[in-house]
Amino acid sequence: MKSFFKRYTPLQVAMHIYAWSALAHILFDFLTGNISPNPIQDLEQRTGRHAITLLVMSLACTPLNTLFKWPELLKRRRALGLYAFMYATIHVLIFVDLDYGLAWSLILQTIFEKPYIVVGVITFLMLIPLAFTSFDIWKMRLKKNWKRLHQMIYLIAPLAVLHYAWGKKGDFFALQGEIIRPLIYAVIILLLLAIRIPLVRRTVASWRDRIRVALSRRRIQSEA
Ligand code: HEM
Repeated sequence: MKSFFKRYTPLQVAMHIYAWSALAHILFDFLTGNISPNPIQDLEQRTGRHAITLLVMSLACTPLNTLFKWPELLKRRRALGLYAFMYATIHVLIFVDLDYGLAWSLILQTIFEKPYIVVGVITFLMLIPLAFTSFDIWKMRLKKNWKRLHQMIYLIAPLAVLHYAWGKKGDFFALQGEIIRPLIYAVIILLLLAIRIPLVRRTVASWRDRIRVALSRRRIQSEA
């Protein structure tokens, strides 16, 4: 056990457990007969939600490191992104196979009838090159272009939220219906994107430093 924790950090363990938890939960519900009356839709929704959550988590690593100086987060970014891609792939496979039985003409018809699915397809297509080039060998091969390519994540994440929100019944502006959850994702993504703006980043960093100084002063006073 000691050597296990020497090899893997708590954050790493927590990340892998969280990533697999959705599949484990689905399996558990199947084995215990707890699956919903509409299992295909249930699976589609659960895998979609887990994909977007992992995507947002991978997007959060860099800003959180900027805020809290926790460099280990940067090491977890790739795995989180790959897990997001894994769940997005399962989500798409459920749609084309379980939902539409690989009836491609019907699949294409449905895609073009529902704009939110077109957005989902675009999001998924954009995720593919990111997943395949996420390894170090591609980083070395693509050099500067690797960073440019991977900056697509800042477009992919809002598109995934648009796909989520658009597919829901509700009024985005009146905050009615099933719109709250996608809205929460939208707000988180907006905040994460805002932290990338140099002025915002500098302001947040200066607040962080002030809070740190205040806390250490207080500790020194209480120790004295
Ligand atoms: C080929 C690409 C895709 C297709 C065809 C597709 C299809 C669908 C469909 C049909 C639904 C509605 C399920 C229902 O409520 O009946 C859905 C919902 C959803 N999808 Fe996708 N999707 C695609 C890509 C993605 C990607 C790349 C993500 C995230 C990274 C994603 C995340 C979601 C989420 C979060 C929902 C809402 C789940 C909920 O209602 O709780 N989808 N998708």
